Formats: sequence, structure tokens, C-alpha cells
Amino acid sequence: MRISIGIATVITFAAGVGLAQDSKSLVIEGEEMVTETAAPDHMESVKTIYSGWRFRSEETQDLETDDFDNPGMVFVDQAIDLWETAQGSEGKSCSSCHENVEDFAGLRPTLPKVKDGELVTMEELVNECRTDRMGADAWKWSGGQMTAMTALIGLQSRGMPVDVAIDGEAAAFWEQGKELYYTPVGQLQMSCSNCHEDNYGVMIRADHLSQGQINGFPTYRLKNTKMNSSHGRFKGCMKNIRAEPYNEGGPEFKALELYLASRGQGLSVETPSVRN
Ligand code: HEC
Ligand code: HEC
Repeated sequence: MRISIGIATVITFAAGVGLAQDSKSLVIEGEEMVTETAAPDHMESVKTIYSGWRFRSEETQDLETDDFDNPGMVFVDQAIDLWETAQGSEGKSCSSCHENVEDFAGLRPTLPKVKDGELVTMEELVNECRTDRMGADAWKWSGGQMTAMTALIGLQSRGMPVDVAIDGEAAAFWEQGKELYYTPVGQLQMSCSNCHEDNYGVMIRADHLSQGQINGFPTYRLKNTKMNSSHGRFKGCMKNIRAEPYNEGGPEFKALELYLASRGQGLSVETPSVRN
């Protein structure tokens, strides 16, 4: 196999031009978010954790402060319609069984979590209802309907601190996620940590590197003008380092999701966040 690494694929960090995160506070619709807090004990080389919001440009940041300006809210509105729409052989909608979507407040910060010995994500809980309880097709992991629905459900917990369990039955999944986070992959032999732990705050090409937190997912990206799942983002980062990405919804990305969530313990859920 011929491996060629062109100029464009060589990753360079703009050393010395580190702008770090800014010191602004994020207030959404009058509610103050925690975008900076002490790192959890399990993080050995990072003292303080920051939301990705703190690394974005002022114009991008502003879009998240007001729901009227937040382009992700269009998708939340679509999910409100979906919530009421009967689909599948049972003729049921989400609202047939779950009276108010507000009842899901508190769910987002705890996911992914172990249920019956399996690590489950928000997408899987939604699809379980669709296939097993509605007789409907599963939604695609990063498809428009799924990301709209996970944004609507996540929004009910906006402002609550990320709080995933990493002990007990979750421990083995967490260890797997940690291993993946620190393992160099791809032609460029880089790991998630090389960028998001060792170099956050510096510029990489035209982008300001954050800690790669997932407290704002699913997130609206200006780049593709849609909602993006966390697994979709992991995939993009792996492609950028010329690695073969794992599957969305596969065991590797689910474990990585748990591990990344645990690196953001205490940050506010910002769903739906806005990023470039
Ligand atoms: C036929 C009834 C029914 C329908 C229709 C239904 N659900 Fe559910 N849903 C349930 C039941 C029962 C549970 C399990 C509750 C539990 O475990 O405590 C559940 C669990 C969930 C959970 C996980 C809650 C938790 O705390 O772990 C989510 C999220 C969810 N449903 C979303 C949806 C969405 C979105 C739709 C529509 C696409 C939907 N459900 C349609 C009955 C239904
Ligand atoms: C070559 C550097 C690089 C590597 C390696 C890398 N990323 Fe990223 N990642 C980026 C850049 C650049 C961005 C966009 C700016 C930012 O938010 O950091 C980004 C963004 C993200 C975000 C979005 C953060 C937010 O606030 O919305 C997540 C999550 C993420 N990366 C996870 C990962 C994971 C998981 C891995 C390992 C599989 C990884 N990244 C590997 C460069 C990298």
C-alpha cells in the first residue's frame, strides 16, 4: 500500500500563538452556565476544564446566548412536532406514553449509562422506544430526526451539571474509552489527547483548539448547518488525522462518549450548543 502524506495533511500547531480560552461567562436566556470548573480527580494532567464555548469566536458565542438566535432551535422545533406524530405499526407517538418531554429533565447529564449490563446512549433509548414500543423503524444515529429529538430531550437538562457514573458496572467501559482517548491512530499517529489535552488553547490551521468536551451535544455547526451528534464529531476528528473512524453507535465510540463525558463532570449541559 502506498502511503503519501501531502503537505495539507501535516498538522502543525501554531506554537506561541496560544490564546487560551477566554474569560467570558455564558448566560443563556438569563441562566448562567458553568463553562469552567475544577477537573475531576481522575484527570491527571489537566487542572481546569472548560466548555468548548470558551474557545469560539465572539460571533459564534453570541448565537448560543439567545434561543431566538440559536440556529439549533429550528431543529428543536421540528422535534416538538415529531414528538406528537404517530409512527409505526402501533399507531403511537412519543406523547402517547411520555406525557411531557419536560419529564426528561435530568436524563442528559447521566448518559451514557449502564442498563442491563450494556452501555446505552440517548440515541439507543430513543430507538428502543421506536422499534420495541412503537413498531417503527430505528432512526439513523446522526440523521436529522434523531439529532433533532436528542437536542429536544437534552435541552430539558440545560444548565444541569454533567454527572455520569464511571464506577461499578460502568468502570470497564470507562477504561476502554480512556484507552482509546490516549491511543495514537491513523497515518499521523495522533491521539485525541495530543490535540485536546496537550494543545488546547492553541490554533490549529484556522481553528482554536478546545478540550473536546461534549457537554453541548448534539451541537449545531455553522460549517454544515445542521445538528451534529458527538459520534459524528469523533468521526470527523479521526478522519482529520487520517485514521479509519469507528462506527457511529459502535462499542468504541460509546465507550469514548462515556470517557469524554466524565472529563466534563460539572460543566453545564449546553444542548443545543453552537460551534463553527
Ligand atoms: C408505547 C409507549 C412508549 C412510546 C410510544 C415511547 N416510549 Fe419512550 N419509554 C417508554 C417506556 C415504558 C420506557 C421505559 C421507562 C423506564 O425504563 O423507566 C421509555 C423510555 C424512554 C427513554 C429513556 C428514559 C430513561 O429515563 O432512561 C427515552 C429517552 C424515551 N423513552 C424517549 C422516547 C421517544 C423520543 C419516543 C418517541 C420517538 C418514545 N420514547 C416513545 C414507553 C414509550
Ligand atoms: C489534530 C488535532 C485533533 C485530534 C487528534 C482530535 N481532534 Fe477533536 N477537534 C479538533 C479541532 C480543530 C476541533 C474544532 C475546535 C475545537 O473545538 O477544539 C475539534 C473538535 C472536537 C470536539 C467538539 C468540541 C465542542 O466543544 O463542540 C470533540 C467532541 C472532539 N473534537 C473530540 C475528539 C476525539 C474524541 C478525538 C480522538 C478520537 C479527537 N477529537 C481528536 C482537532 C483534533
